[in-house]
Amino acid sequence: MDLEKLKSTAQAMVAPGKGILAMDESSPTCQKRFDVLGIPSTQEMRREYRTMLVTTPGLGQFIGGAILFDETLRDNTLSGKSFVEVLEDQGVVPGIKVDTGAKELALRFGEKVTEGLDGLGPRLAEYAEKGARFAKWRAVYTVTDTLPSQACYSANAHGLARYAALCQAQGLVPIVEPEVLMEGSHDLTRSFEVTQHAQQLVFEALANQGVNLEGIVLKPSMVISGSDASDRAGAEEVARETLRCLYSTVPPAVPGIAFLSGGQSDEEATTHLNTMNNLDNSLPWAVTFSYGRALQAAAMKTWAGDHANFDAAQTVVLRRARMNGLAAQGHYKPELEKAA
Ligand code: 13P
Repeated sequence: MDLEKLKSTAQAMVAPGKGILAMDESSPTCQKRFDVLGIPSTQEMRREYRTMLVTTPGLGQFIGGAILFDETLRDNTLSGKSFVEVLEDQGVVPGIKVDTGAKELALRFGEKVTEGLDGLGPRLAEYAEKGARFAKWRAVYTVTDTLPSQACYSANAHGLARYAALCQAQGLVPIVEPEVLMEGSHDLTRSFEVTQHAQQLVFEALANQGVNLEGIVLKPSMVISGSDASDRAGAEEVARETLRCLYSTVPPAVPGIAFLSGGQSDEEATTHLNTMNNLDNSLPWAVTFSYGRALQAAAMKTWAGDHANFDAAQTVVLRRARMNGLAAQGHYKPELEKAA
């Protein structure tokens, strides 16, 4: 394992004031997002949309890494340059989603386990050869009064750790993503309990597989009230409880924690991140973003499948990236939204 290479890649992904652009929607997920806006879900449209994202002038000021889907890693932008090349030119590290999706967990109704370990070593070698320098694997945990089950916690922790070890063996930084879903009516206390337990088992499994923590990035969900909870916690409480959880589970050897947005509104996701960085100015890890929807939603709506809106959509991408880059340093203010 080339630890120095892994460390420098991880550090570039979560450099001060930078986060990660998650643009790795699988084709069915991309279709879901396009359908809402009436955009035809063809490869040409996905290419144009994603070209818009990666060619945004100045993107590299706020984005340290971009996660691609297989189709995009192999594809060229509208100008004919590959997506990988365009990202490298922007100073953005290209990465790749490598799990094959969350599937029904056998004998555990309503729960999922993430698949994709079979043949993963050679797939990672090919991705590395094509220019990917990090990878992503997402595990999901559904919350009810009785779920997740122990089977769900342990199967997903094992999968994440085996994936992470395979990545490091191929020189790729693994983004380790245990996502406790926001869907549901659980309160903040229950979110804390599930998130903490999921993370504890993930770090135990990473240790068992010999994964070097200096060469990973953790992509967790925030400790947050369920989307249908009757009394949802405010930003300060979300930030405090999320940090309290992370302090109890994440060793300081981990270079960066980059949150997913998980269905939070754009401004909520930015505010929560900003509040965390404001509450504590001696965090042992970079605390930043790896947002998908919270970075893309507004820009996708502006683009709306029409080339005439290409430049306007880039302005929107850059604004969200800038707001989150500021939040990663605790420098965001809601007034800046209007000023921008
Ligand atoms: P969201 O920020 O939309 O949750 O997506 C992040 C991601 O990469 C999920 O795997």
